[in-house]
Amino acid sequence: MALYSDKVMDHFRNPRNVGVIEDADGVGEVGNAKCGDIMKMYLKIEDDIIKDVKFETFGCGSAIASSSMATELIKGQPVSEAMKLTNKAVAEALDGLPDYKMHCSVLAEEAIRSALADYEKKKENDEAVQKEENS
Ligand code: FES
Repeated sequence: MALYSDKVMDHFRNPRNVGVIEDADGVGEVGNAKCGDIMKMYLKIEDDIIKDVKFETFGCGSAIASSSMATELIKGQPVSEAMKLTNKAVAEALDGLPDYKMHCSVLAEEAIRSALADYEKKKENDEAVQKEENS
């Protein structure tokens, strides 16, 4: 059996949603200390729906495929759904990853969580400023 599924190879060779969103509503960056790989996610969110998502990954092929698949899974989804995305779901959508490469999909889950946390923080700050202005 091949080590990597066709889907992993496809998303590695033709990653979807690569790039940067300059005016992103949420940005998350995570890294894995052991392998040194880094993943950065950018989210554009309107009315709590993920309108756009882009990523930059400096890492292995599985990390690139995982980020690409993760962006596809959350694009167009409400924030509440994106919050629930697990690394297992990313790996399953890729038709599996070798055991020793599962941590690459964890990086994708963490990068999305981190970008969503950044979005929530910004939203709270904006709401606090608006309250201040209205009082
Ligand atoms: Fe570390 Fe893939 S080897 S993210």
